[in-house]
Amino acid sequence: MSSPPASPTPVRLADYRPSPWRIDRVALQFRLAPRGTTVTARLEISSAPGGEDLRLDGEGLRLLSLRLDGRALDLRPDDRGLTIPAADLPQGAFTLESVVEIDPADNTALEGLYMSKGMYCTQCEAEGFRKITFYPDRPDVMAPFDVTIESDLPVLLSNGNPAGQGRWTDPWPKPAYLFALVAGDLIAHSARFTTASGRGVDLNIWVRQCDEDHCAYAMDSLIRSMRWDEQVYGREYDLDVFNIVAVDDFNMGAMENKGLNIFNSRYVLASPETATDDDYARIEAIIAHEYFHNWTGNRITCRDWFQLCLKEGLTVYRDQQFSGDMRSHAVKRIEDVLMLRARQFREDAGPLAHPVRPESYVEINNFYTATVYEKGAEVIGMLRRLVGDDGYAKALDLYFARHDGEAATIEDWLAVFEEATGRDLAQFKRWYSEAGTPRVRVTEQYEAGHLTLHLEQINPPTPGQPRKSPKVIPIAVGLLSPEGREVLPTTVLELTGAQQAFSFDGLEARPVVSILRGFSAPVILERAVGAAERAFLLEHDTDPFNRWEAGRALAKDLLARMVTDGTDPGPDWMTAMEAVTFDDGLEPAFRALVLRLPSEDDMAQTLHAAGHVPDPAAIHTARRRMQAVLANGLAARLPDLLAALDDPGPYTPDAAAAGRRALRMAALSLLSRVDGGAAARATFTTADNMTVEVGALACLLEIGAGDEELTRFATRWGEDRLVMDKWFTLQILHAAPETVAERTEALTGHADFDMRNPNRFRAIFGALAANHAGFHHADGASYRLLADWLIRLDALNPQTAARMSTAFDSWSRMDVDRQDMIRGELTRIRATPGLSRDLGEMTERMLG
Ligand code: PHE
Ligand code: ZN
Repeated sequence: MSSPPASPTPVRLADYRPSPWRIDRVALQFRLAPRGTTVTARLEISSAPGGEDLRLDGEGLRLLSLRLDGRALDLRPDDRGLTIPAADLPQGAFTLESVVEIDPADNTALEGLYMSKGMYCTQCEAEGFRKITFYPDRPDVMAPFDVTIESDLPVLLSNGNPAGQGRWTDPWPKPAYLFALVAGDLIAHSARFTTASGRGVDLNIWVRQCDEDHCAYAMDSLIRSMRWDEQVYGREYDLDVFNIVAVDDFNMGAMENKGLNIFNSRYVLASPETATDDDYARIEAIIAHEYFHNWTGNRITCRDWFQLCLKEGLTVYRDQQFSGDMRSHAVKRIEDVLMLRARQFREDAGPLAHPVRPESYVEINNFYTATVYEKGAEVIGMLRRLVGDDGYAKALDLYFARHDGEAATIEDWLAVFEEATGRDLAQFKRWYSEAGTPRVRVTEQYEAGHLTLHLEQINPPTPGQPRKSPKVIPIAVGLLSPEGREVLPTTVLELTGAQQAFSFDGLEARPVVSILRGFSAPVILERAVGAAERAFLLEHDTDPFNRWEAGRALAKDLLARMVTDGTDPGPDWMTAMEAVTFDDGLEPAFRALVLRLPSEDDMAQTLHAAGHVPDPAAIHTARRRMQAVLANGLAARLPDLLAALDDPGPYTPDAAAAGRRALRMAALSLLSRVDGGAAARATFTTADNMTVEVGALACLLEIGAGDEELTRFATRWGEDRLVMDKWFTLQILHAAPETVAERTEALTGHADFDMRNPNRFRAIFGALAANHAGFHHADGASYRLLADWLIRLDALNPQTAARMSTAFDSWSRMDVDRQDMIRGELTRIRATPGLSRDLGEMTERMLG
């Protein structure tokens, strides 16, 4: 028996050293075969003056030959790469040619070159290129690439511009993680784009034949993204073609490879019959996100992987701006904050908390997190508030002018803001280096026309960071008169100390304070506000985000009381909810968001933060009770609302129509609790689009009905893999807590369950983890089931297994029995022989 492997040594930001080697040009030649693909790589290398060995990364490659300036070298790689001793290297420039063999058909990790439904594709970010050939696989090594692909397949794609059948040349120097190759029997949905300066670009979305008629919305989104980046950021596209390929087996959402974006097919393919409004919105956002990377990520890339937020935070910020411009800024902001709290605040509050710019990692794939992405975007939003729109625009222009073609750092990023605006950002930089969600405690004093706000910030300890210093926190406030008139328009207070007071004079009466407008900083506000004041803000706040937030906070207060002492919400809440629900002056999407009660996970997080040990079963019961109270209170007027929202005519995916459907489905869900599902059943039967079809089905499943409809749904959609993912998810997500584990296990025996397909695995186990009361059921069956499947998946696809293991990251807020059970499962996973570095690091961090 071999001894267990020692814990791998972490990579540290502090150890960064520039590459001693430059790659001046790369020529790759692929001879494709499912087993035994050969890759010939000719690297033109400039040697370092230091006389160092040349180290190339390479994993799982069979080295067939290695030549330096034509002379054969007899060297054996180790299991992570190849070292060419300095003694073998000439002075100055030289050419290194390697030939390796790889087996894409056996690649279940979906990293490097792999096969998905008969097509070849690649995924290289972050460190997948080393599974294709020997190379200095680090983002600060940038080179122009020429690629030749030999295969019988008709469509052969790579980065850059076409240079003949199967030949591509990419003039823009790029790091290896942006390399891509696709070969398959594909068909293009095409369009043409003319850039602002008049250059023509061919746009193609490549899919399998059967999906050709599902590409129009993605293409429309791409064209709007390209135009928007020209108009808002002055960024033009820089190649003759832009290709997008949809693949079914993909670990993440999509990938921004230069000129050849590769997408998880669920973020490309859509038709009214098969995709929901949320799917459409996500397609628009992700198409934009990947396109925007062409400048923020590709033209300017990251020096090392610690700088990941440099491209991801900024690109998320840009795609959020874009979606807001395309749809509704208020609704988009509310949705983004819901997601931030659900994923990032949760991460920040548990054992996986890490700074926006981490300082060490074992496996970089584990750091594509809500903190790097979403908190990284929030940090940019704060920066913009602090320097103003003009300052932001100037800083970005300087950033593009100065760093184009470079691999940059967060220091470079902050420096352009300092230079463009003259502002010192030393304190601001703590947002990048310190983990954890700050709490901001607010108290107010009013006397004779004079209001004082006392603000205090508390920066809680996180793993490895016991003590923190105050941050600069932009707090947007507004004041309303008791009649609901705005007496102070939105003003940004800069909280820089641990405690600080801000005064407002000349007020006619005690104002109502609207604080943290637009969610101006990713913090938790602690403020004792009565129900009456929250209801007032829900009715009158001029800031739409805070208007929603007031309703949300009110619902949370009431739900917390229901959980802890069983008190039902009083009539004030009902009055306020009724007013919003039936106010035709408000956007339907906004009304739907107000009707959406806080999730069970959100409540558990909130109760925990308030010093309670949350009981998942009690939260579940209370939330259902609250829904029933709301349903009964609104019941009489719901049928009229539903009738008014039943749009005749064909489906359109625009935000206004989607908002009406969202409100309609929210109303239907409430009505289902009083009519036994009659209206939902009728809606399901007549639905002519997927939003309404799954919306109605979810209403039925929520009230314990819908089995017959589930069967009809499967019969209708059995051949459509993306729709069937929804079928798997829905029945787990809406199942009663005590039945969830059993149901999930049964579905893993379904003929269409394929653990090699990440979408399907996530459809099932993501739903299990998202059914809060079911996942945390006291019998521990769900914990066991998830652990079993993570262990199984890890052997095939470590990246997705590690990502899904975050379902366990909330263990420390649970009661002792559940803590013991979860820790037991994590310990069992950790002890698995041959466990991947990915899942190993995650269990290690979660166990603390
Ligand atoms: N860089 C991709 C994005 O954010 C995400 C990704 C990371 C995809 C790693 C695949 C692998 O757009
Ligand atoms: Zn990205």
